[in-house]
Amino acid sequence: MHDLSAPKVLSGLSDTRFRHIEVHATLGSTQTLLVAEGGKDGRVVVADHQSAGRGRAGRSWLDVPGAMLMFSALLRDVPIERAPLVSLAAGLAVARAIGDDARLKWPNDVRIGGRKVCGVLGEAAADFVVIGVGVNVGHAEGDLPAELEATSLRIARGEAPPRDELLVAILRELDAIVGSDFLDEYRTRCETIGSRVRVELADGSYEGVAEAVADDGSLIVDGKPVVAGDVVHVR
Ligand code: BTN
Repeated sequence: MHDLSAPKVLSGLSDTRFRHIEVHATLGSTQTLLVAEGGKDGRVVVADHQSAGRGRAGRSWLDVPGAMLMFSALLRDVPIERAPLVSLAAGLAVARAIGDDARLKWPNDVRIGGRKVCGVLGEAAADFVVIGVGVNVGHAEGDLPAELEATSLRIARGEAPPRDELLVAILRELDAIVGSDFLDEYRTRCETIGSRVRVELADGSYEGVAEAVADDGSLIVDGKPVVAGDVVHVR
């Protein structure tokens, strides 16, 4: 917790929409809490450890206490059709904050060297959007099961950045990106475009070539849009 100081985070965000920061030692899930409670635009809930963390597609999200930056941020005034774009914007914000070598796997995994370093979960409630972000910061090699094909900033960079500084950097980028026309930069960073992918849906899967990311944020695979669902890069 020593590197998760709410006053330090607040002072770095005073000129952004993210000015309501709560830091918890342990929570069920920052995401579940914000979706259930709502709150002001720019409310951010951070946890050092989650006992019931949630990932995309109904998966659970496990953490090593102290090793991960985990937070959820609430945004109001987002038109419903832009909600998927906000979650793409969050992936781009993390990539910018991490560095030039960070790449995006559609829709919003952030990867370094083909290994996942951050996951983003976007959810729309009645009149707000909640963006949940989990970044692997301080894990050593043995902390991450090989089958996850994941990495951490410590593994990739040799040292873990202070989580409060990383949080400020991500939220400053998100504040700048969210209302802007960011898709060309997203596409430049997106390593899914041009890759052969398997699209996994609730009722089956199919393979094709990911050709583009459309203006609504969907992935175009063999000419057809994929709006929801997971894609796996096929080697
Ligand atoms: C993914 O499946 O890749 C998305 C993972 C999102 C995890 C973050 S951690 C903070 C927030 N709270 C949660 O329960 N989930 C998100």
